[in-house]
Amino acid sequence: MENIIAINDRKFVKYILKDEISAAVNKVAAEINEDYKNDVPLIIITLSGALIFAAELVQKLTINCRITAVKLSSYHGGLSSTSKVESLIGLTENIKDQRVIIIEDIVDTGNTYEHMLNLLNEQSPKDVQIATMTFKRETYKKNIPVKYVGIEIPNKFIVGHGLDYQDLGRNLPDIYQLYEE
Ligand code: IMP
Ligand code: MG
Repeated sequence: MENIIAINDRKFVKYILKDEISAAVNKVAAEINEDYKNDVPLIIITLSGALIFAAELVQKLTINCRITAVKLSSYHGGLSSTSKVESLIGLTENIKDQRVIIIEDIVDTGNTYEHMLNLLNEQSPKDVQIATMTFKRETYKKNIPVKYVGIEIPNKFIVGHGLDYQDLGRNLPDIYQLYEE
């Protein structure tokens, strides 16, 4: 049955259809278009997970913006969120006094976002916000606001539409949830 798929040792069940993700993309884009109509923000896509959401989102932006991508040097490979960002690989743009929007695939505990913010703030941007495809509000542990949220999800591991399980599943158009028999 194609509603249930296997990736390595786990099974996943179809959970959020790509049409629902498209609607979330449109909603977030409309918010950004409104909030940044008088600015030229720098969009920072965090690779690899945010690639697909970001590609969809930026095409819906009608504002002027610059776009770049960074890779976070951190390690996480399984079902839990244990990563700690050490550096932002590839950020060559000068962000001093710039408005920055980070694009993410998921915000879980918020550790990644917080570390990224700290690293960016060392370069004195004007402000930094985040636009994330999915947000696990129940597990979010920080006081920093998560400004633009596509879809709020419960604390269950998901894969697809950019999100990976053991580096697999990013190419799935829909989002799947861990299936526990
Ligand atoms: P954080 O807990 O907000 O720092 O999230 C750390 C990282 O864990 C995210 O950037 C994702 O790469 C990964 N992650 C957290 N939850 C999930 C999930 O449900 N599916 C896939 N990756 C996840
Ligand atoms: Mg990941």
